[in-house]
Amino acid sequence: MRRAKISIIGAGNIGGTCAHWAAAKELGDIVLLDIPEKEGVAKGKGLDLSCCGPIEQFDSRITGTSDYKDIAGSDVVVITAGLPRKPGMSRDDLVQVNAGIVKSCAEKVREFAPDSIVIVVSNPLDAMVYVAWKVTGFPAHRVLGQAGALDVARYKTFLAMELGVSVEDIQGLLLGGHGDDMVPLPRLTSVNGIPVSDLLPAEKITACVERAKVGGGEIVKLMGTSAFYAPASGTIEMVESIVRDKKRVIPCAAYCEDQFGVSGGQKGQGYFVGVPCVLGSKGVEKILTFTMNAEEKKFMDESISHVKDLVGVVNKLFPSLA
Ligand code: NAI
Ligand code: 2OP
Repeated sequence: MRRAKISIIGAGNIGGTCAHWAAAKELGDIVLLDIPEKEGVAKGKGLDLSCCGPIEQFDSRITGTSDYKDIAGSDVVVITAGLPRKPGMSRDDLVQVNAGIVKSCAEKVREFAPDSIVIVVSNPLDAMVYVAWKVTGFPAHRVLGQAGALDVARYKTFLAMELGVSVEDIQGLLLGGHGDDMVPLPRLTSVNGIPVSDLLPAEKITACVERAKVGGGEIVKLMGTSAFYAPASGTIEMVESIVRDKKRVIPCAAYCEDQFGVSGGQKGQGYFVGVPCVLGSKGVEKILTFTMNAEEKKFMDESISHVKDLVGVVNKLFPSLA
């Protein structure tokens, strides 16, 4: 059977950890690519991870490189290239520099892996997915962003801590952009079907929601740089659903028009925002929708408006994308 090929652009904290999770789950062969100045890091991490194979019992081939020819034939390309946050920075502060980096990576992906499904991780996420989509020219179902998988995992983790139950028994959903105005949905959160509102007082649920919203910042303050274990884990959850055609329902940044009123009824005026997606071998195979209540709609509209502003900044930086 042909193995899947997964290429990861950016061999830093998230890229290296993605390679780690992907190898441990034996999802396929892995290419870890960085800029020529960091080729040694990409090669070194590739070799180090390869040597885990006999211990962890995986056969994935892991190649470190700075040569885009090595990504040819990739089924999935994960873009993690870009600067992470430093304490005091918001994700949006990264837009100027990361838009240029993601643009240059997407140009190479278009050239060397034209049939791939692209998962963007670089921040500010929703705007960087837009850059990758515009630059590759790939159909929207083959370009998506990782944020919701992480954000909902944080939300579930904080709820499980509060409830004293296993994280495995929390079901939850989260919508919107990957900013502090993301939209967790307590109304649709349960512990094995029991509404969380029956188990925790409103103020405790709100505290978990608020902590999930700023969970990235909490870690930046502690470590001096962005989180990477959970962002990589969320990314590989998406990769796994694609390469194994699992049809998992995962909140991802996907291109929306009518869904959740994103385009305001204007054809062709959609945006990438976090929505529940069915992920399979074709990429985003379906976006699941439901009726939001008035409060959820208000939060979602605010989050969409923030994404629109960031895309506006990108379009000013690179008018050819608009
Ligand atoms: P890092 O600094 O550890 O790694 C980034 C890597 O990208 C570096 O090795 C760098 O050399 C490489 N790079 C820079 N320009 C490149 C180019 N043109 N081509 C190829 N590689 C290039 O950063 P980290 O922690 O891995 O974060 C990566 C990105 O992911 C950041 O933008 C960060 O803000 C974002 N992030 C996204 C999250 C999400 O949930 N979507 C969560 C956390 C971080
Ligand atoms: C995070 O949420 C900074 O986006 C990054 O950890």
